[in-house]
Amino acid sequence: SKVTVVGAGNVGATCVNAMAIRETAGEIVLLDIKEGLAEGKVLDMYQTSTLMDFDTNLLGVTNDYAKTAGSDVVVITSGMPRKPGMSREDLIGVNAGIVKDVVTNILKYSPDAILLIVSNPMDTMTTLAQKVSGLPTNRVFGMGGALDSARFRGYLAKALGASANDVDGMVIGGHGDTTMIPLVSKASYKGVPVSEFLDEKTLGEIAAATMVGGATLTKMLGTSAWYAPGAAAARIVESIINDEKKVFPSCVHLEGQYGQDDLYIGAPAVIGRNGAEKVIEINLNETEKAAFAKSAEAVRNTNKILHEIGAL
Ligand code: NAI
Repeated sequence: SKVTVVGAGNVGATCVNAMAIRETAGEIVLLDIKEGLAEGKVLDMYQTSTLMDFDTNLLGVTNDYAKTAGSDVVVITSGMPRKPGMSREDLIGVNAGIVKDVVTNILKYSPDAILLIVSNPMDTMTTLAQKVSGLPTNRVFGMGGALDSARFRGYLAKALGASANDVDGMVIGGHGDTTMIPLVSKASYKGVPVSEFLDEKTLGEIAAATMVGGATLTKMLGTSAWYAPGAAAARIVESIINDEKKVFPSCVHLEGQYGQDDLYIGAPAVIGRNGAEKVIEINLNETEKAAFAKSAEAVRNTNKILHEIGAL
């Protein structure tokens, strides 16, 4: 199978590196607009193949979309990341133009691809990508909740003094500092609710830390994070390629679920060969329901900007 990643920056290159090492696909193309960047990163990665013991066929290209032809999955990471103090929503003006352009070019050569959107503000960029492509909604979805959930599990694990792999937890809603919803009531350690081990105050602090998890890293790094974002995107691609039907909270198109119609926002979804194959509706308590409605409202408001700036 063949995967293309657009954007050879921090997230795109990390995603390719993770997929190469795990041999997720036989062929991976990395494309960037910046002359030589994708070629250089791919050459560097190729030179790790005897050290890391993988055989993935890697190709880096500068804007040469013909080389992406016949991709099964395309990950879109092109666009500006935030700098300290910025919100993801601040990026909409620049990134809408980039995402629109990239989607149009990709479709010329890979009309049957599944598109995974990473560029921020991700919920809105996913909405834009689906509208521009006209593809069925299962074939265009966004990565956000998988990352936010990994961060949530990490914070819970640290507080529990446990391995993050023994902790389950999910973040749904919009992929924004104020819109995401860590589902504390459903989080568990070895199957037991975390409220059995951590008090309400600690759990509140963990939820708050999760929500600003990206901003905290942006402050530390001077730009937004890449290891966990790249890994999250890579893991989702793997679930598509291997038709795993694994559930990842992802930015998916709601058609009545969670009280929302015709809206791309984070919810758990079955990810397989046909993309976001099914939205899973989990029972939310009243607080969570109210938070979801508020989050949906915020995402809808950001989406309106697409019209205001003429992107749609
Ligand atoms: P970066 O600046 O390191 O890389 C972006 C790359 O996109 C650059 O190499 C740039 O040359 C390229 N690019 C720009 N316009 C292009 C075009 N028209 N065609 C092809 N390539 C183009 O940024 P980074 O850190 O990799 O982040 C990428 C995007 O992902 C940002 O918008 C960031 O906010 C978002 N992001 C989303 C996350 C999520 O959970 N959904 C998590 C982390 C980042």
